[in-house]
Amino acid sequence: MQQIPLGRHGPIVSAFGLGCMGMSGGYGPADDAECIATIHAALEAGITMIDTADFYGMGQNEMLIREALKGGKRERAFLAVKFGSMRGPDLKILGDDGRPQAAKNFLAYSLRRLGTDYVDLYQPSRVDPAVPIEDTIGAIADMVKAGYVRHIGVSETSATTLRRAQATHPIAALQIEYSLFSRFIERDILPTARELGIALVAYGVLSGGLISDRAQAAKSAASEIRSRKPRFSDENFSRNVSLVEALGQIAREKGVTTAQLAFAWIKSRGEDVVPLIGARRRDQLKEALGAVDLKLTPADLARIEQAAPAAAVAGTRYQPAALAHMDSEHAA
Ligand SMILES: NC(=O)c1ccc[n+]([C@@H]2O[C@H](COP(=O)([O-])OP(=O)(O)OC[C@H]3O[C@@H](n4cnc5c(N)ncnc54)[C@H](OP(=O)(O)O)[C@@H]3O)[C@@H](O)[C@H]2O)c1
Repeated sequence: MQQIPLGRHGPIVSAFGLGCMGMSGGYGPADDAECIATIHAALEAGITMIDTADFYGMGQNEMLIREALKGGKRERAFLAVKFGSMRGPDLKILGDDGRPQAAKNFLAYSLRRLGTDYVDLYQPSRVDPAVPIEDTIGAIADMVKAGYVRHIGVSETSATTLRRAQATHPIAALQIEYSLFSRFIERDILPTARELGIALVAYGVLSGGLISDRAQAAKSAASEIRSRKPRFSDENFSRNVSLVEALGQIAREKGVTTAQLAFAWIKSRGEDVVPLIGARRRDQLKEALGAVDLKLTPADLARIEQAAPAAAVAGTRYQPAALAHMDSEHAA
């Protein structure tokens, strides 16, 4: 696995990361032993970036990672932690909290659950509209000074917010949805990240399992996340599957799977794009890792664009009500 700098002046991390969200619900029940084996397999393959959030499984995800990193593995991992998203006991989303004291409080719990005295990358999962980004980033900067955080990241920010965050403290990475089906960042956000020397950590590369040879199975499996994704709705799904099938045809001709094609495509976007592999089983990880050395030619890329233009995708990436609160969806 290639190791690259995370941003122009950032730390060295693996060219792909492991996203652990699916290991703690959201995509249906997961097997803890298999999830831990998947984390171990990722480390063995040279993946260092392990991505989590304090609200994945309401802390359970961090405790699972702690278990996986026991026995001296913590130092081999680059722990990326998101915070700020609030849920009630019924797991309903209550909003985001980016207040300085909240950021510090969230971090205190994360450190305890992860069994570590520092987090490699700490990032607000969403921008709290009630709190200036300077205040949230300033609080994390205090935690950098105190040694609890090594680097600062942001998630789902607009280009303007990214600039404001960077003016407060160097930002190593922006985590945001980016895939064959979600290309909105190419207009302003990605060019701004590049200008500022901020790496792009891409999630949603498979659009929740839609861009794969198992799209139908993904739709059928009970999943709270997919039930909220318009692209999986009965109304939109068959149109999207026809795009996935067109991609599948190209993948088969190249002797790879559709998911591998999706990972190779995201990697073709640039050295500064670090895709998250949302695997919760070793077979899924192995499939994604099969794309690490897969290079797409300009002719492949042109065929892919033609087969699945992002404008032909049916449905938005999140429900309109959720998008309305996302800083990244604001024009500037
Ligand atoms: N910053 C943010 O706002 C944000 C939001 C969401 C996620 N994330 C991060 O990004 C990571 C990736 O999450 P994502 O859900 O967006 O990723 P994704 O790549 O769009 O979808 C992952 C889902 O695809 C299916 N899958 C995984 N490997 C597959 C394979 N080889 N072939 C076919 N299907 C496969 C799995 O579903 P099954 O296991 O059900 O088959 C998995 O849950 C998360 O773990 C999290 O760390 C960040």
